[in-house]
Amino acid sequence: MRAVAEAPSKAIITGEHFVVHGAWALAAALPRKVRVQVAPASAFRVTSDKFGDVGSPQLRPVSRVIEAMAREFSAKPNVSVSISSMVPEGAGLGSSAATMVAVAAAFSRLNSLGLGVDEIIRYSMVGERHIHGNPSGIDPAVSARGGVILFRPGSRPKKLSLEGERTLILSYSGRTRSTKGQIGRVTQIRNKYPGLFSILSDGISELSLTAAEKMRIGDMEGLGNLLTVNHAALMSLGVSNDTLDLMVDLLASMGSYGAKLTGAGGGGSVVAVAPEAKEKSIVSGLTARGFETFKVSVPAEGVKSWLER
Ligand code: PMV
Repeated sequence: MRAVAEAPSKAIITGEHFVVHGAWALAAALPRKVRVQVAPASAFRVTSDKFGDVGSPQLRPVSRVIEAMAREFSAKPNVSVSISSMVPEGAGLGSSAATMVAVAAAFSRLNSLGLGVDEIIRYSMVGERHIHGNPSGIDPAVSARGGVILFRPGSRPKKLSLEGERTLILSYSGRTRSTKGQIGRVTQIRNKYPGLFSILSDGISELSLTAAEKMRIGDMEGLGNLLTVNHAALMSLGVSNDTLDLMVDLLASMGSYGAKLTGAGGGGSVVAVAPEAKEKSIVSGLTARGFETFKVSVPAEGVKSWLER
């Protein structure tokens, strides 16, 4: 008997970094998933198609999640965990959160703990904190819940009810980076210029609420304009880089409605929206320049788990 869970990756549409300091942010679950299998074993063991086995430091957060859950529910921590992922690591697409959410959901399923989405998120955060230090929690929230959500720490997330699907374009710069380092950089700026940061943060919080409404009603041009404004704010914090700025400029010249870096920045990916007629040429144009680019339809569903014999 083994338990299997699949959790979606994510794109932050607006509000990253500011969300760590209390602003609203808008994020969407993406159809590319992480799949985790958990089965009883004689000793704890974890393997991943990306990082090899348990000796790898990238896999330590997985043991933290299992240990926390096993302790709390007096369940056996001796399990073998196997992870396979369609999500590039360090690309700002939430691969670590999707992994932690799927691990928590699969362990819950294996032990018939019957945990709901809030508890899955709570245990996945044990691993997320181990990796990122002081994350806002937006990544596991959207991965576990699915859909498109407005999130801010300490408030109940609001799921957008969308009629039909919306298309996002994601393009990976090919450069990985540490989310923890990027969060630290922004926190330093906030500590140095608290008044200025608070004005900027309030503005981006408002921008996220407006972006959610544009997304809800399908005003993709209006949403695109907001993405570009949000990118400028992230540039002002120093979390962008030349490659991401170039990609945002390229997307504008190829006819997108707007684009911005997504996630922690300093590498990772950009997110864009574009007129439907231009989506194909934008994807092939960026791919031709060496950036892995794809379009996705949102909303995607949240974490799912089941038992297999
Ligand atoms: O998980 P990433 O690397 O896509 O970035 C997370 C977004 C941040 O706002 C930078 C951090 C957070 O915890 O919200």
